[in-house]
Amino acid sequence: MKVSSFILDVTEYYLPIDLSQVFGNNKDSALEIGFGDGSFLIEIAKNNTDWNFIGIEIKVKRFRKAVKRAEGEYIANLKYLLMDVRIAVEEVFYPNTFSKVYINFPDPWPKERHKKHRIINTQFLSNLSRIIKPKGIIEIASDHEEYISSILETLEDTGIFKSIFPLPGYVHNIPTRPTTRYELEFMEEEKEIYYLRFIKEN
Ligand SMILES: C[S@@+](CC[C@H](N)C(=O)[O-])C[C@H]1O[C@@H](n2cnc3c(N)ncnc32)[C@H](O)[C@@H]1O
Repeated sequence: MKVSSFILDVTEYYLPIDLSQVFGNNKDSALEIGFGDGSFLIEIAKNNTDWNFIGIEIKVKRFRKAVKRAEGEYIANLKYLLMDVRIAVEEVFYPNTFSKVYINFPDPWPKERHKKHRIINTQFLSNLSRIIKPKGIIEIASDHEEYISSILETLEDTGIFKSIFPLPGYVHNIPTRPTTRYELEFMEEEKEIYYLRFIKEN
């Protein structure tokens, strides 16, 4: 079976992974968590060849589709990883690996009894912060106002991250970003979208 060059196979490396071995360079690296159909990463990787991009997705069908989609393109700076990001942030990467992290439309789990499944919580942010460089950026997008409020509060409470946007801490438009699949659907439904951008202070 042909193995796609877009797949990051962690079994090929000693953990934690040194991304300079993966990409053969020391360029800045960005991570997308829960990449869905992978189209955001394809666009951003094509437009930012001076960066390396890693995407992590837990659902195998989405992962396979994204890999297939990427194979139609000539892109040397993009790898997709099939894994639960909660494990990846603890086990897979060296501290201070990423200069930028995107979390686009994380599942909001709106029902009270399901909120425990939300990926963004204090523990996760603490593990994530370990693999982000000082002055690195986390960018989060969501249509879910209550989840956004809770993420804002959790990020502020870490004492590690500081909002770049002035109060109320979000904007409704970032024109330079590629649009994600979910973003497009929410835009068509004329839903308000919230974008957060935080910097890791040290
Ligand atoms: C609402 S979708 C958004 C997809 C894409 N980011 C977009 O904006 O079109 C959330 C994505 O996060 C993925 N996801 C949820 N939990 C995850 C986890 N623990 N690790 C990695 N991916 C996860 C889901 O499988 C899904 O593809």
